[in-house]
Amino acid sequence: MSNLTINTSDQFEFTFSKEAEKEIILILKKYPPERKASAVMPLLDLAQREAGGWLPITALEAVAQKVGLAYMRVLEIASFYTMYNLNPVGKWHLQICGTTPCWLRGSDDILKAIYDTLQIKPNETSKNGDFTLTPVECLGACVNAPILQVNDDFYEDLNYDTTKKLIESLKKGTKRKVGSAKNRKSDPENGATVLLSIKGKKNA
Ligand code: FES
Repeated sequence: MSNLTINTSDQFEFTFSKEAEKEIILILKKYPPERKASAVMPLLDLAQREAGGWLPITALEAVAQKVGLAYMRVLEIASFYTMYNLNPVGKWHLQICGTTPCWLRGSDDILKAIYDTLQIKPNETSKNGDFTLTPVECLGACVNAPILQVNDDFYEDLNYDTTKKLIESLKKGTKRKVGSAKNRKSDPENGATVLLSIKGKKNA
């Protein structure tokens, strides 16, 4: 569930860009006109990207108006999912999964590497405003745990050293490899131990 602290500043003006308005038409076309409220989630995602990574009240209101819902209904949805940010986040939004598989495979080491590199703890933003760290539940990539999501990308199989390297490359703006830090293709780390044969034959 999302952090329920809501930024109530109404200083942030928000209107959808022309490109976004075109996108909204395409999104709304996917739903029957009397069910356009169902488009609320993709529109929230679009509004968040337009607003620079978070949803000010004015953006929630704009979405509510597009889908014909009361502002409060839109806020209920936006405050439920961690994918929507109700407060500004840094240029790099780090989402650390701490659910059991990631925790067992070292998510605490990732947290330590982030703290040692950026001096931020969960739910904090670095002093320069570039990095925000948010704890989240399962990101659906447990097979390559532990996982750190950075903006839209998943970094998998991380440990203390590879996390530090990743943060440094984010700071410098150098090229990064998304996915498994060990080039693992969703296989068990030490090879398969079950389902080794089909109809009595050994798999190659
Ligand atoms: S437990 Fe971390 S991705 Fe599922």
